[in-house]
Amino acid sequence: MDSIVVRGNGPLSGQIPIAGAKNACLALMPATLLSDEPLTLTNAPRLSDIRTMTELLASLGAEVTALQEGKVLATSCHGEINPVADYEIVRKMRASNLVLGPLLARLGHAVVSLPGGCAIGARPMDIHVDALAALGAEIELKDGYLHAEAKGGLKGATHEMRFASVGATENFLMAASLAKGTSVLKNAAREPEIVDLAKCLRAMGAQIEGDGTSEIVIEGKDRLHGATHPVVADRIELGTYMLAPAICGGEVECLGGRIDLLESFCEKLDAAGISVEQTHTGLKVARKNGRIRAVDVTTEPFPGFPTDLQAQMMALLCTAEGTSVLEEKIFENRFMHAPELVRMGANIDVHGGHATVHGVEKLKGAPVMATDLRASVSLILAGLAAEGETVVSRVYHLDRGYERVEEKLAGVGAHIERVKAS
Ligand code: UD1
Repeated sequence: MDSIVVRGNGPLSGQIPIAGAKNACLALMPATLLSDEPLTLTNAPRLSDIRTMTELLASLGAEVTALQEGKVLATSCHGEINPVADYEIVRKMRASNLVLGPLLARLGHAVVSLPGGCAIGARPMDIHVDALAALGAEIELKDGYLHAEAKGGLKGATHEMRFASVGATENFLMAASLAKGTSVLKNAAREPEIVDLAKCLRAMGAQIEGDGTSEIVIEGKDRLHGATHPVVADRIELGTYMLAPAICGGEVECLGGRIDLLESFCEKLDAAGISVEQTHTGLKVARKNGRIRAVDVTTEPFPGFPTDLQAQMMALLCTAEGTSVLEEKIFENRFMHAPELVRMGANIDVHGGHATVHGVEKLKGAPVMATDLRASVSLILAGLAAEGETVVSRVYHLDRGYERVEEKLAGVGAHIERVKAS
């Protein structure tokens, strides 16, 4: 297994290009199941999670071709569709559950394995099931698979989710786009990836209003057509790279970055003493002299502070002046990076959904192990702030969500390299 070796760093400078959003792309790709015409996604990221979705769609009968070094995904679903999403693929990635809504809408039935994904909590499927049941689907769990059927097709309905789940909102949007009549989703998630999916569905002929707010109205259509859609910038990759100069000092511009994708995160950086400026080409992040200030952070659905940046923010706050409290409100088991950061000299107490970080002057390099995607990148960031060498192992987690991480960081002066497994 590959590992990443990081050495404590001085100031960084230069530019880092931000890729298309993994989480947007994982919702956009299944939309190909809604039409028999081609869907082309530009600015797609080259990641192992995208390859897993390609494998899943191919197993369902779609054709997915990666063009121009994988940045353009041409998908097409004109032949016979297999309604069964097999456990062997679905278990690799929770986002596989995003084929449930489209399969049900296009075929009237679907059999989808319960998903796996990051080990960051129970992550059940009840909100998805309730949302699709509201559209007339009958869904039962048998042998680890969700068996869904909509006799006579899906019918538009008004439904309020008990929690603003990102994936359930995406499944509902795709399913309702081909349902008969009008659907209204209340307490919908408002993440930029949902707005991006709605944009793409509109380009395919869907009628959707209110995306980006907590009430989305969808007028169902008989069929959707092909489209070409550019994937929105990855706000989590953006936030991660913004933290590199925040940790090491210096000034870095994240190309393609937009402040509206990360407002609450930028507010916390400002409070910690990091300046963020929107330029014509991206976001410029600079850390002046002096120590980072402690800040308290609570993760929330968008537009709140993203849970997917909590681990990376913790890496920054390990060396802040003062005590920071991080509260995790989205996932119940998402502090697995904390004990690894402690091995590097951080002072962190975890109690249930709270982590109290008492800032120390310096971290020290150590061998550490990544336990999930965002945890693994937080250890790399911490390594940049540490004295000596940090070896991060199990980096296959990292490759699920970060394209060329070592090249991008080395490009702004970070001391980082990948050591290939022999
Ligand atoms: C998406 C993101 C993920 C991010 C998360 C929250 C993708 C591919 N992944 O995941 O990176 O961390 O949003 O911003 O876009 N829940 C239930 N029942 C359900 C569905 C969810 O209880 O049916 C719970 C989950 O266990 C979790 C919380 O709701 O505690 C949030 O989940 P959700 O918003 O659905 O996240 P995902 O779509 O899985």
